[in-house]
Amino acid sequence: MDRIVIRGGVPLNGSIIIGGAKNAALPLLATALLTADPVRFTNVPRLADIDTMANLLAQHGVSVERDGANATLTAATITSTTAPYDLVRRMRASVLVLGPLVARCGEAIVSLPGGCAIGTRPVDLHIEGLKALGAEIEIDGGYMKAKAKGRLRGATIRFPVVSVGATENLLMAASLADGVTVLENAAREPEVVDLANCLVAMGARIEGIGTDRVTIEGQERLFGCDYRIMPDRIETGTYAAAVAIAGGDVELIDGRLSLLGSVCEKLHEAGCDISETPNGLRIRRNGVSVRGVDVMTAPYPGFPTDMQAQLMAVMSVAEGASMITETIFENRFMHVPELARMGASITVHGASALIRGVKELKGAPVMATDLRASVSLVLAGLAASGETIVNRVYHLDRGYERLEEKLAACGARIERAAG
Ligand code: UD1
Repeated sequence: MDRIVIRGGVPLNGSIIIGGAKNAALPLLATALLTADPVRFTNVPRLADIDTMANLLAQHGVSVERDGANATLTAATITSTTAPYDLVRRMRASVLVLGPLVARCGEAIVSLPGGCAIGTRPVDLHIEGLKALGAEIEIDGGYMKAKAKGRLRGATIRFPVVSVGATENLLMAASLADGVTVLENAAREPEVVDLANCLVAMGARIEGIGTDRVTIEGQERLFGCDYRIMPDRIETGTYAAAVAIAGGDVELIDGRLSLLGSVCEKLHEAGCDISETPNGLRIRRNGVSVRGVDVMTAPYPGFPTDMQAQLMAVMSVAEGASMITETIFENRFMHVPELARMGASITVHGASALIRGVKELKGAPVMATDLRASVSLVLAGLAASGETIVNRVYHLDRGYERLEEKLAACGARIERAAG
């Protein structure tokens, strides 16, 4: 199993190209199930999770042609409506095929995703939403078995909690339903907006995009389209956090400041200088130390849970104390004991972590059990003295394209070691 080896203490200087957003690309690829026409995407990130989704779709009979950052998907006929356990357990976002399959084929059998490193993560909202659209769903043998007589029917659905995935599944299903669907308390994440915009390009009629009340007028059929996937705001935020912890001056090409929102505010409060450039954004921290800031994760436009671990790494070397509260997922502090092994001073009380900034982190062999936790250890390694070895690199490969090359190009002493 590959490892990432970092010898920290070097500020980052240069530029990094930000890729297409993983969490936008995953539902976007699933939209191909909604039409028999080819759907062409550009700016597709090259990540393990994207390969998993492509394999799942191919398994449903979708032809998937990929060429670098381009992908053309054609679901002329759907040969299987079953999403098997073996693929779904690898990536929870596989559950995004449920809505499109029931809407297009009137049936779907999708494995329940099962346990997950960052909490229980149920799918009840996906199920209840589709039931409201007229699907019958039973759980049998670890699978969700959904059936609809004819087309799904539009309905008003009020989500009791904000869910990105459930909003996306319902947006896709409602686009092919008979009549009008209203999604209340819908997720407003930019990735949801990207999906809605693509559905509109495919012929869907959607109002209220980007608000918490989205109205979808279902169509009898949708069409192919060309669509460019938005830049990855979490990748952007992660490299911004890398500059925050290591110091330096880096341009994040294709990164979009407007997508960073609260992450930008917090990094600014912590002492970083962030500005827009003609090609993206620039982040600097030169000669000033990082200051402790308090953060609470929340649905968009709040601070993203997917940036929580990275910010905690930064706060571990800040001047003063910080409090980070995680409100989206339980059990999303797995990076804490690993950061502590590097010398961080962090105390967890329930959903909050109190971080007392230390002068220096010290390199150590570490590992983490999820994507963002793993990358937070890479960030810590960039600032630590000595050598940090991050094991279980496959987590990083799920969501960061050529991470070590991008950081090394800015001067970081980081490399991938095989075996
Ligand atoms: C997506 C992102 C993930 C991010 C998360 C929150 C993708 C592929 N993944 O995950 O990176 O961390 O949004 O921004 O886009 N919930 C229920 N019942 C459900 C569904 C969710 O109770 O049926 C709860 C979850 O347990 C969690 C909260 O709702 O507490 C938010 O989860 P959700 O927004 O659905 O996350 P995902 O879509 O899985």
